[in-house]
Amino acid sequence: MPDVTTNTPAETEEIGRRLGERLRPGDVVLLTGELGAGKTTLVRGVAQGIGSKAPVASPTFQLVRVYPGRVQLAHVDLYRIENSAELRDLGLEELVQQGAVVVEWGERLAVDSAALIEIDHLGGDRRLIRTKRDLSH
Ligand SMILES: Nc1ncnc2c1ncn2[C@@H]1O[C@H](COP(=O)(O)OP(=O)(O)OP(=O)(O)O)[C@@H](O)[C@H]1O
Ligand SMILES: [Mg+2]
Repeated sequence: MPDVTTNTPAETEEIGRRLGERLRPGDVVLLTGELGAGKTTLVRGVAQGIGSKAPVASPTFQLVRVYPGRVQLAHVDLYRIENSAELRDLGLEELVQQGAVVVEWGERLAVDSAALIEIDHLGGDRRLIRTKRDLSH
């Protein structure tokens, strides 16, 4: 996906929706970007893109939420992850076997071959969404 600047949350959601439409089981997408960058907003679009109508909230206190769709989407948020035991308990491998996985604060995870998307504040409501590594398909 080419780098893009968005000017509204809806535009970021739209980028997420297009990404969601491309997702296949086994895909892992790591999202990076500071607090309030728009990671959850993007995932809201990803959920639409897999065909889920469920509202996407921040899974801050759950670490992971699963949305059924054309492919299952696991939405992971590592902001509050504290240790490697918690990471193990997440059952990431199983989630990857069951569907696609999108991870906020993805830099806390080392996954070879994962797609990597960085969101940067450009001031106001402008955000730069950069694909550092795209999906392999
Ligand atoms: N172009 C834009 N794209 C995305 N969000 C935007 C944009 N402009 C303004 N916003 C606002 O920025 C905030 C982004 O919040 P969001 O929860 O998506 O960020 P986040 O990266 O998930 O933060 P956190 O690290 O706390 O999880 C929302 O309040 C949203 O309305
Ligand atoms: Mg978030």
